[in-house]
Amino acid sequence: MILVTGGAGYVGSHLVMALLEKNIDVIVFDSLELGHIETIETLKQYGNLKFIKGNLKNIDDIRGVFMSNKGIEAVVHFAAYSQVAESVKNPQKYYYNNVYGTLNLLNAMLEFDVKKIVFSSTAATYGEPVYTPIDEKHPQNPINPYGMTKLMIERIMDDYDKAYGLKSVRLRYFNVAGADSKARIGEWHEPETHLIPNVLKATSDKSFKMFGTDYDTADGTCVRDYINVEDLAKAHILALDYLNNGGETNYFNLGTKTGNSVKEVFAVCEEVKNSKIPLEIYPRREGDPATLVADNSKAKSMLNWKPVHNLEYSVKTAYEWENAFKNKIAK
Ligand code: UFG
Repeated sequence: MILVTGGAGYVGSHLVMALLEKNIDVIVFDSLELGHIETIETLKQYGNLKFIKGNLKNIDDIRGVFMSNKGIEAVVHFAAYSQVAESVKNPQKYYYNNVYGTLNLLNAMLEFDVKKIVFSSTAATYGEPVYTPIDEKHPQNPINPYGMTKLMIERIMDDYDKAYGLKSVRLRYFNVAGADSKARIGEWHEPETHLIPNVLKATSDKSFKMFGTDYDTADGTCVRDYINVEDLAKAHILALDYLNNGGETNYFNLGTKTGNSVKEVFAVCEEVKNSKIPLEIYPRREGDPATLVADNSKAKSMLNWKPVHNLEYSVKTAYEWENAFKNKIAK
């Protein structure tokens, strides 16, 4: 049985779907502050899923989960705030929730002798790139509190391994994209800040805002490495296998090693929608590095992971989800 914190959220729910489809029992622990009960209800149709509402900031909430569920073999930890701009404005909220919440989780794990964890880390732990593509040896100097919370947790996990033998795999995501291939679940953020859903949602009343066309890149817009959410979910399952096979604490970049500019993503979205999307050019958004591309060789060789879906596929599934989602909430 696997405990998934934040399993009602975007990436977490795709892992839960993948686990259930492999007939693995899952407990989702989520505060539902950002996750959605509708997502849990959908997931429950696909396997043995127990949902527990709680907040990691209350240690008794998470203790209770271990106390009343004896067969938890490992934890996959997604629950966190993840908006860069918000973290700059309100670092207190980020350090308290992400770092303190994780400490409560790790301490409860130790108390109940659960010693394996896969953790959602981020490319934001690297900060402004010194070279590209970014491998795992790249210096980690976050430029915002969000990235710093994730880096602090990575460091805490190293110390917890040395002192208590708690084994962790930290997965540093680049830009997560797409939705479930059958449009059952998908990206559902309120407010939405991410590129692909924002392009797809644009209308003549609310055009898409492109932030910055004067970057030092081939077409002047930022370049990112868009990794499909189902490929990402598979990497978590391989990370769990790695830990189950006695793997040591480790960390891996999850990306495709391919960069796409904002203009390229916009063009793919127009192609998938088969229509012109209203566009407005805006100044740069604060804190956006020009280029972020992952060197994914370590995950490929050590986890035997291989991303299979390209950007077109991610945009297509994101669009199908947008339509399915609209139909659902319109009911
Ligand atoms: N962008 C726009 N308009 C929008 C939204 C985004 O032009 O409405 C641009 C951004 O300026 C950026 C690119 O699209 O150049 C990608 O932006 P996203 O917000 O989709 O993704 P980020 O690269 O900013 O952030 C993602 C995750 C973060 C994580 C970061 C790590 O969302 O959690 O990658 O690099 F920290």
